Amino acid sequence: MLDGYGFAEIIGLRGPFVSDRIRAGIAIWGPHIDYPRHQHQAEEVYILLSGSAEFSIEGDASQIYSGGDVVYVESNRWHGLKSCDKNLVVYYLWRAGDLRQTSHFG
Ligand SMILES: [Fe+2]
Repeated sequence: MLDGYGFAEIIGLRGPFVSDRIRAGIAIWGPHIDYPRHQHQAEEVYILLSGSAEFSIEGDASQIYSGGDVVYVESNRWHGLKSCDKNLVVYYLWRAGDLRQTSHFG
């Protein structure tokens, strides 16, 4: 989808731990990657493992989060992020909603 971005699903419909209720894995962004504004039915938690990013979440002022921070996004709320000057490593979780659904960008 993006240069400088990748992810590995650990729990979810693609496994290796199969679940239709939780989708979780590790995502990595290189420095200065703009991950565009998007929304999805599932609520989402980002747990930042290393690096920093500026998150833009609908209705809130943009804010920079770093390793150890947890960012929660409600179902269908528009959100996006821009990684800062180092690699960003995140453990992400999706819960509820249709886990087969992909993000809507816009
Ligand atoms: Fe998301």
